[in-house]
Amino acid sequence: MSADVLAVTPNPCMDRTLTVDQLRVGRLHRVQDSREDPAGKGINVAKALRVLGQDAVLMGFLGGPVGVRIRHQLSQDRWRMAFTSIAQSTRTNIKILTSTEVTELNEKGPEISDEEKDTFLDGLTKAACEANFAVLSGSIPPNCGADFYCQCMNYLRDGNPDLFILLDSSGPALKNGIRSAPSAVKPNIRELSDLVGRRLENPADAAAASQTLRDDTGIEYVFCSLGEQGMVLAEKRGAYYVKAPAVEPVQTVGCGDSAVAGFLAGWKQGLELEECLRWAVSAGTAASLQTDIGLNSIGDFHEILNQTIIEQLV
Ligand SMILES: Nc1ncnc2c1ncn2[C@@H]1O[C@H](COP(=O)(O)OP(=O)(O)OP(=O)(O)O)[C@@H](O)[C@H]1O
Ligand SMILES: [Mg+2]
Repeated sequence: MSADVLAVTPNPCMDRTLTVDQLRVGRLHRVQDSREDPAGKGINVAKALRVLGQDAVLMGFLGGPVGVRIRHQLSQDRWRMAFTSIAQSTRTNIKILTSTEVTELNEKGPEISDEEKDTFLDGLTKAACEANFAVLSGSIPPNCGADFYCQCMNYLRDGNPDLFILLDSSGPALKNGIRSAPSAVKPNIRELSDLVGRRLENPADAAAASQTLRDDTGIEYVFCSLGEQGMVLAEKRGAYYVKAPAVEPVQTVGCGDSAVAGFLAGWKQGLELEECLRWAVSAGTAASLQTDIGLNSIGDFHEILNQTIIEQLV
């Protein structure tokens, strides 16, 4: 299967969104509206890539009746997939919406057997042979071990030593993953603060920390997203900053995933690195103006792109 971009989500889920008038703990509620959407950070990246004119192959673990429904919905949307089937069921994350707030109930995710893990890792090697990019996104299934992303990178590189690998995760998965020197990482400012062990508040702090991370790990491109402040990139020539235009966001979940897709979409077209950073910020900001999670339509992307200005910091 010719892939180009592998969007890897080891711990995907079905988002089940229930709308109620008011939420009162311990009471019976009539649900006004309900919907199910396949979700997970790699899937968000792939959806945003498609909006920006690029394709991806979806990979990860899927199992049980929830896995069947996810596969069905994704194939209806004509996604190319190479998921590994597992015995336990994929998780469902419940979001209860009222007019003023969202309450979330997230399952922890299925256990993966050793055999299923091996099948998945071998699949990465095979898929990498025909790909140029891989995005490793989100959390790791509970029993796969914190170094799972390191294993993924080893298997991907066995298939294609030149593969461009971008890691976007948090906590121990990120902390361990950076030891394998992916080509790029995209922590947000909280995740980068956790990594470097100090509080970071502004683009200058984030740029300095990104440079340090780059020097310490050998990661070539360190992107740090700063929500409404935009994004910083540290690379060999120095650090750059793109400010996000002032907007009134509708919701900001999945903005980081859209920003990752924006960067990749620019890079795949052969745009200059600075231009790719502008694409990343513009995709993230455009996503913040959309009701559904992530970048679901091109919306204001081009208008925002025209407004973003890049600045060299150091
Ligand atoms: N409030 C906002 N206003 C304008 N742009 C925003 C806002 N929030 C996010 N963005 C855009 O999205 C990009 C990524 O946002 P953010 O730093 O929140 O990522 P994240 O925390 O990794 O998100 P997630 O992991 O939920 O996808 C920012 O660099 C910016 O371009
Ligand atoms: Mg993120």
